[in-house]
Amino acid sequence: MESNANTLMHDYIEKMTLDEKIAQLIQLAVPFFEGAEGGGLITGPMASLGITEQTVRNSGSVLGMAGAQEVINVQRTHLENNRLGIPLLMMADIVHGFKTIFPVPLAIGCSWNLELAERSAEIAAKEASVSGVHVTFAPMVDLVRDPRWGRVMESTGEDPYLNSEFARAFIRGFQGTDLTSDKDRVAACVKHFAAYGAAEGGRDYNTVDMSERQLREFYLPAYKAALDEGCEMVMTSFNTVDGMPATGNVPLMRKLLREEWGFDGILISDWGAVKELIAHGYAADESEAAYRAIQAGVDIEMMTSCYAKHLSELVEKKEVDESLIDEAVLRILTLKQKLGLFENPYRAADPEREQEVVFCEAHREVSRELAVKSCVLLKNEGVLPLQPQQKIALIGPFAQSSDLLGPWSWTGSKDDVVKLTDGIKRKLSQSAELLVADGCGIEEATEEQWKEAEAAAQAADVIVLALGEHSDMSGEAGSRANIQLPEVQLELIRKAKLLQKPIVVVLFNGRPLDLHGVYHEADAILEAWFPGTEGGNAVADLLFGDANPSGRLTMSFPFSVGQVPVYYNAFNTGRPQGAEDAQVRYVSQYLDIPNEPLLPFGFGLSYSKFDYSDAKLSSDLITVDQPIKVTVKLTNTGTVAGEETVQLYVRDISGEVVRPVKELKDFKKVTLQPGESSEVEFVLSEEQLRYYHADLKHHSDAGAFSAFVGPNSQQTTQLSFKLVK
Ligand code: GLC
Repeated sequence: MESNANTLMHDYIEKMTLDEKIAQLIQLAVPFFEGAEGGGLITGPMASLGITEQTVRNSGSVLGMAGAQEVINVQRTHLENNRLGIPLLMMADIVHGFKTIFPVPLAIGCSWNLELAERSAEIAAKEASVSGVHVTFAPMVDLVRDPRWGRVMESTGEDPYLNSEFARAFIRGFQGTDLTSDKDRVAACVKHFAAYGAAEGGRDYNTVDMSERQLREFYLPAYKAALDEGCEMVMTSFNTVDGMPATGNVPLMRKLLREEWGFDGILISDWGAVKELIAHGYAADESEAAYRAIQAGVDIEMMTSCYAKHLSELVEKKEVDESLIDEAVLRILTLKQKLGLFENPYRAADPEREQEVVFCEAHREVSRELAVKSCVLLKNEGVLPLQPQQKIALIGPFAQSSDLLGPWSWTGSKDDVVKLTDGIKRKLSQSAELLVADGCGIEEATEEQWKEAEAAAQAADVIVLALGEHSDMSGEAGSRANIQLPEVQLELIRKAKLLQKPIVVVLFNGRPLDLHGVYHEADAILEAWFPGTEGGNAVADLLFGDANPSGRLTMSFPFSVGQVPVYYNAFNTGRPQGAEDAQVRYVSQYLDIPNEPLLPFGFGLSYSKFDYSDAKLSSDLITVDQPIKVTVKLTNTGTVAGEETVQLYVRDISGEVVRPVKELKDFKKVTLQPGESSEVEFVLSEEQLRYYHADLKHHSDAGAFSAFVGPNSQQTTQLSFKLVK
């Protein structure tokens, strides 16, 4: 018995003409609806896409519109001109906050705090929903191993397990448990399916090519986790997968996503990705592009018009069965129904409530808390925390910068940002003076800038250098081949070093950097990423010890870009360095740099000192029915309370295919007072030992394993056990 809702949707489809159905598959951006917010006629650049005003009036969704009154006006105009009164879906990129901007997702990943990640998505959804948004194009869960790629800032890192946990947390936050009744939530759209983060050379939109086993083992788990958590939509990725662009890839989209995984929600293309099938050399023209995409099950074409211009002809020529159109329309109408748009097309859009909910103090406090938890202390040789009575020279292009929101923060405002100067000034005692100077720009410098900075530095007890990348040096199309700080900033560090005063570097950046010229020169380094609206307060909280750094890297910092891709869960190779019979030369190594990253996955320092002892297993045998416990004693031997992220890794010593030297399987966040100890316990099950075999079957094998427990992926205590089947 079909639900009433489904019957209703089928009724609509029965009544719709073919052109009206096809128009539902079109997503256009705000300019196509300009004028409509005033209730006027829709104008917009229709000629650019060669579509008619009628197509706009019948289109199914809008990209990038937010603002309660604007959405109400556009929706009202739309309904007045849509024959069957089918409402628009309002979709937008609300990736790490709406008006209250949170740290970029790579920073949130470094918090290893799933509860706060969920809370940030819940707040983003509440602010977006009251502003008229129905769907967010998030979370982005692409696994990343190449910091040259600008969009690593949008990911939570290089580990499939941790990315999966964050994917689930974000879906819970965005969608809640009942999208129909909870109007403070929005539908989520996991992206970019699939493996966009593996673009060759770290160059955006570039080719991705890997075995299906590699794809399933490392790159697919987080998308699957998002869908298992109930994510409503999926967005295609720009890249090829096995020689076929994702947006036209039938094996990936029909066979795996729809048939194997059972996903029956909306699949939307990325911007222009349907038409780009031509540039890929996968379609001869827009008609074939439309054909390829609809065959792959792409329900909505974003911002190009291959569907609008060619689908009806393909149906008339019986090259495309109308049932494919109907199933796409049904998915779109079903989401509109689930969101309650047929009952109330304005959903939660409410100009009055928008004023009180959006950017409220409570939301900003959560942003500050998450920013504090997301920063990672990379080095500290007795310099931090700072003291309020110290004379501080705050120098650098980010000293007074409001560019702390990072990419994908278009609904936020830099005017709202708490700058680092603001944050530090609030920490200083009345008598203390903060000396502030730019010292240089992000990529340019003048002699005057340095002179002013030199004077400030000379007069100070400690120099805080606020350095980094401007936010469009990462993000989409923000790939860099050189991932060092710009030369003028390295020069600033060299000049400051000559003054022989303590130097603290605070980094604002969207990717792991090559820290040549920074790491050895600074006495302390705090990685702040793009910390969001409350960035200045959060960084100041950490610099002055009002908060204790607890962030841990979820993406390796390479020794140099020559190492890239470098990641912790790599294979051992047949000639690993340090093997007992290893020769000096003929091993897997570089002649000029080490193999290990400068700073590994899981790394982060604290103002506390954590000691690990008594690591042990409850048994050295694990079976399908009998998990084992891994325990370790953790002691805070420092002088301040702190939070440690205890990490559990496993290695399958010998598999049917080679297995990574370590794989993260669990983690526990533990807060301890000075002198306090705690026994940290993990339960390890046979299920966590399963992997994709050469035949793509997913199961474990009997044999020897190692368990590792410790503060990061390099500093661990090793324990041995066997799986018996
Ligand atoms: C962009 C991005 C995608 C985003 C979409 C809509 O090209 O790749 O992440 O959601 O367009 O803005």
